[in-house]
Amino acid sequence: MRYDFDQVIDRSGNCSAKYDERKKKFGTEDVIPLWIADMDFKTAQPIIDALKARAEEGIWGYTARPERYFQAIRGWQARRNGWTIDQSLMSWSLGVVQTISACVKLFTPEGGSVLIQTPVYSEFYDMTEAWGRKVLENQFVEEDGKWSMDWADFEAKLAQADLFLLCNPHNPLGIVWTPEELRRMAELCMAHHVPMLSDEIHSDLIFHGKKHTPVAALSPEIARYVITAISGTKTFNLAGLQASTVVFPNAHMKEVFDHYWQCMDIHRNNAFSLTAMEAAFDHGEEWLEQLLPYLSDNFDFVVDYCRAHIPQIKTYAPDATYLMWLDCRALGMSNEALHDFMIHKAKLGLNDGCSFGRSLNGFMRLNAACPRSTLERAMRQLEAAVAGL
Ligand SMILES: Cc1ncc(COP(=O)(O)O)c(C=O)c1O
Repeated sequence: MRYDFDQVIDRSGNCSAKYDERKKKFGTEDVIPLWIADMDFKTAQPIIDALKARAEEGIWGYTARPERYFQAIRGWQARRNGWTIDQSLMSWSLGVVQTISACVKLFTPEGGSVLIQTPVYSEFYDMTEAWGRKVLENQFVEEDGKWSMDWADFEAKLAQADLFLLCNPHNPLGIVWTPEELRRMAELCMAHHVPMLSDEIHSDLIFHGKKHTPVAALSPEIARYVITAISGTKTFNLAGLQASTVVFPNAHMKEVFDHYWQCMDIHRNNAFSLTAMEAAFDHGEEWLEQLLPYLSDNFDFVVDYCRAHIPQIKTYAPDATYLMWLDCRALGMSNEALHDFMIHKAKLGLNDGCSFGRSLNGFMRLNAACPRSTLERAMRQLEAAVAGL
């Protein structure tokens, strides 16, 4: 079937965090919400059909997880990424952030250190600090709008780290790591005896002919150092259903992780997440193949618009994710002033760049997963606000 991503769906009053938490996040309802990473698109029809059928059953008691659930996820990874996962090393988790949090707690010592590459998804800082661990920042280096890794700094920080959190592909810079880069990171981790956790939640959202590489698929030796967090929630816009998958390097780490959640009795899918994930991984591909070019055109629209009408704001089409990184430094504002400007003058609800890289000044993140007409309105508002300065 053909999907219509231009359709504008009113999500307000629907308990969507993106819309209904605007007041809490921005102090006003009067912003176009382009912040938290979910999409303003309906998901794939096979998922909707499967959930409707499940809802019609009218009984949603305690839910068992059948073998075929993990098989659907394995099948997806094998088809799309050529990664054959050992099913005995797979676990369920409520979400990727919960996985990160638990791994920081369970696999680093009290007072230990976690290496992250900044700017990065803000929960990498937050979950590390939540358990009293120290954040070691390997900052990306920017030159003419291109961000790259500082390898010497990476290795120096790795030598002090107990865990490396990798964002693969990278939010918010939209980097798709090459197999060579990933191999180099992994080999350094092995040399320094530092396990890595690869957050691959955005791995289905890849553009420009690039290809995602699961770190754990590089070699059996590397797989023994890598915990991988995957999920269908970004790919298919199912974040509210809360289910993700973890693949462990060995049975012991899986046991430690599972035991932790068993202690809180958090180990079952909710009935609807089970149904949705199976439908997504077994029947969602057609929808995804139509979504990706739409998102790519959205990126191009924003890039072209800024170039033509708002040259003070520089951006680029990311190779991965649906999140765009806006360089607003030419506006000459402090982070606080930029935050206020976007809310009160442009009337846009964006994420502050400094939440992803605490030492950065003048960046914002824009979620481009919405109908084109929403982005058109947003860009016109931004243009007018900048013109009014
Ligand atoms: C890199 C990354 N990891 C994890 C998450 C959230 O994962 P979950 O909703 O499964 O906790 C996000 C959401 O934006 C993300 O960008």
